[in-house]
This record gives sequence, C-alpha cells and structure tokens, in this order.
Amino acid sequence: MTDTTGILAATPAVIDRAGALIRAGRLVAFPTETVYGLGADATDGEAIAAAFEAKGRPRFNPLISHVPGPASAAALVELDDRAHQLAARFWPGALTMVLPRRAGCPVAPLASAGLETLAVRAPDHAVAQTLLATAGGPVAAPSANRSGAVSPTTAQHVAQSLGDAVAMIVDGGRCPLGLESTVLDLSGERARILRPGGVTAEDIAQAIGPVETVTGDAAVTAPGMMAHHYATRLPLRCDVAELKPGEALLAFGRHGFIGATAERNLSPTGNLREAAANLFAMLHELDRPEFTGIAVMPVPDEGLGRAINDRLRRARHPRPLAGDGAIG
Ligand code: TXA
Ligand code: MG
Repeated sequence: MTDTTGILAATPAVIDRAGALIRAGRLVAFPTETVYGLGADATDGEAIAAAFEAKGRPRFNPLISHVPGPASAAALVELDDRAHQLAARFWPGALTMVLPRRAGCPVAPLASAGLETLAVRAPDHAVAQTLLATAGGPVAAPSANRSGAVSPTTAQHVAQSLGDAVAMIVDGGRCPLGLESTVLDLSGERARILRPGGVTAEDIAQAIGPVETVTGDAAVTAPGMMAHHYATRLPLRCDVAELKPGEALLAFGRHGFIGATAERNLSPTGNLREAAANLFAMLHELDRPEFTGIAVMPVPDEGLGRAINDRLRRARHPRPLAGDGAIG
C-alpha cells in the first residue's frame, strides 16, 4: 500500500511532538498492545468531537480513557476493591474497566457519550506509556479505524482507514496482541464482561470471583448503547419551528426565537464540532423540572450532525431503537 500519510517512526522526538499535538487538541494515532488507538485529549470536548468525525460513525459511543496506571485512573473514576485488585494484576494490560465517574471528573461528557460511567485502561506498550506521559493527562482513544472497518494493528492500516483525518500516526510496529481489550463493567454489584478481549473471563474470575459475560442481544446493546441511558426526564421535541409555553430552547446557529424560558445554543456559529462538544452538558443543564420540555432546533443531518440527531432521537424514545450496534 502506498498511502503512508503522516506515518512517523516512534522516536522520542516524534512521541514528544505527538504529545504536544494532543495537548493542542489534535488527533494522533498511536500503538497499544491491543490495536492502534485514535488519541485525543479526553478533557477537550472539541477534540473528542473531531475523533468521532474522523471515525465517521453515525452515533456517539462511549470511549476508553487511557491512563498510565491506577493512580491516574483514581483521579477520574471511583476505584473499588475489585478494581484495585484487577489493576494490580492486569495493568498495564488489555483490561478496560467501566466505573462510576468521580465528582469533578475532568473528562469531557462527550468522551463517555453522556454516561455516568467512564471506561479506563492502562495500555501495556512503551510507546503508549511515553505518549501518555508527554500528553500529561487522560487520552481518549477509540480504535483507529473508520466506523465498520476492522481494528488496525499496523500504522499502515490506520493510514488506509483514516488517512489525513489524523495529525500524525506514530508507528510502533505491529500491535503484539492484535485483539481489543476486554471491557469489564464494574459499575454495578456484579462484574459483567461487555466485550471479550485480551484478558479472559477465567483470569478475571480468579482475581475477583464470579463474572458474568453479557451475550446475544444484550451484548450488542450493552456498552452504554441502550436508549434509556440516553433519555431526558423532560419531553424533548426535535426540529421545532415554534416554542410551547414553558419550554427551554436548545438552539443551533442564529435564530429568531424569542421568549424561551431558558436557552442554550449548541453553536451560535453553526459549527457541528462545537455543537457535539456541548451536547451532553447542555441537555443536562436544560433537563430541569421548572421547564415543561426541551425544544430543539433542527441540526443538519450531515457529518457529526447525524450522531447529534441520533442522540436527540434516543432522548425522545425511552426504549431501545432498532439497529443498536456496538461496532466500534
Ligand atoms: O483495546 C482497546 O480497547 C482499544 C485500544 C485503542 O485501547 N480501544 C478500543 O476502543 O477498542 P473502542 O472505542 O473501539 O471500543 C471501546 C468499547 C466500546 O465497545 C464501548 O461501547 C465500550 O468500550 N465502552 C466505553 N466506555 C463505556 C462505558 N462507559 N460503558 C460501557 N461501555 C463502554
Ligand atoms: Mg473499535
């Protein structure tokens, strides 16, 4: 393959630049022991929006925040005894743990698709660890492939799939495992595997006792994809042309609506990346009992607008929608 756009061998100088790019809100593809990740500053909503845009996924799925180890994870999520034991045994490694966000967690709401849980993982790869150190904070990274394509295990795969959507591809050779991490949900009393991967159910059970593996339909929708996770408490109307009494307005772009009880504007200039970055925080702010409902102005159904509209449709429907998939 000839497309080698932006591929650079992982020298210390290159990793340094990659860290600076991430701090500047840019996207950097980097190797981990499982697959290549599409890295973005996890605390920067617009950088996360750019990652979703690059993947071309018509839906916001929650992303894994990568950290050097348990101490940095503890700043983001509530680690219980099980999590401490698993981290001691399998980190750095191919185990992702889904845990409750800590109060004041700095990770952008968009990075976990508005959920109250956050997935964290410490990758077992020298390049990834050095990059995390230079980036200086959590790095959200989905697999570095376009939506629907297989996960990339070489820098060339990334270039073929994402091309110039990334500022840099750090080449650390072939990923040693070549299989994604195991996603383990520890947000409830029962430990549940949401996605099988590098660390097996038996390994986990040995460390913390019984673990259940979510299979079939539930597995497809399990990773934070169920519509009810997304529903607002207030009724929500989309594509509104007029306001009803008592409604709060979620605007997009310039508009002539007057007299809204409350208003947030996803992006006054009509920028979809900014809108995506604001979406979850603004829905949360308007979802209050003093309003009769949330009226949402039309958002163009193109690019990131498709994922924004998907999220808004889910907020209206308290049941799973058809086509709930977790193809990352
Ligand atoms: O090996 C890996 O995990 C790679 C490398 C780059 O670390 N990353 C990866 O990310 O595979 P991604 O985005 O392709 O898959 C992340 C999975 C998805 O199935 C997602 O739904 C699930 O983790 N996930 C993330 N946050 C979650 C949350 N808060 N609750 C439930 N599932 C979550
Ligand atoms: Mg994926």
